[in-house]
Amino acid sequence: MKKILALMGSPRKNKNTDKLLNKVLEGIKDSGEDVDIKKVYLKDKDIASCIACDSCGKTGKCFKNDDMDDIYSDFDEGDGVIIASPLYFNTVSSLTKIMIDRCQVYWSSKYVLKNPSIDINKKRVGMFICVGGAPYRENQFDGCTPVMDLFFKAINTSYKHNIFASHTDKTPVWEREDLMSKAYEMGKNYFK
Ligand SMILES: Cc1cc2nc3c(=O)[nH]c(=O)nc-3n(C[C@H](O)[C@H](O)[C@H](O)COP(=O)(O)O)c2cc1C
Repeated sequence: MKKILALMGSPRKNKNTDKLLNKVLEGIKDSGEDVDIKKVYLKDKDIASCIACDSCGKTGKCFKNDDMDDIYSDFDEGDGVIIASPLYFNTVSSLTKIMIDRCQVYWSSKYVLKNPSIDINKKRVGMFICVGGAPYRENQFDGCTPVMDLFFKAINTSYKHNIFASHTDKTPVWEREDLMSKAYEMGKNYFK
């Protein structure tokens, strides 16, 4: 069975980010793969900001015990990791970024301690979903992709898929059949 962790990084449930993510998850469920999907609303979790104390550089672990503990285990055990975020000030939401910053633990354990706190031999597939309220611009999501690239490298996950949707403040994703069927198809082909 393949395990997928889907992190929903919008503070708004049942809006654009959430609905687009759900459509991908629907596709994954219909893909024929034996999958166990865990969807987490970051808004409901207690995840503190990184305080740069460098304890992960000494122990390979974060000193803070909060809801990141489960997320760390899920990254380690996962075959797929999906991050869904709205575009805020040209990058990912703060809910998403706080979670990402806590992944410094992987950088420290790998490059300072040379003792990775994640299974680096496991193959994982990553997807990033992002929605922006403003009309389409060519570089609209360019502030996110280097962040996601580094994040997926930190969790030893191959950053394979992106889904971007613009102009969601004017036309929400659920009114866009083409986008929703693309998201569904990308879910169906997630591991292919
Ligand atoms: C704090 C904040 C910052 C935003 N910054 C941007 C932005 O830089 N570019 C953009 O296209 N939309 C921006 N938006 C609009 C959101 O991306 C848009 O409303 C999106 O649909 C929110 O996702 P949701 O519907 O899942 O909550 C911003 C919205 C908020 C609340």
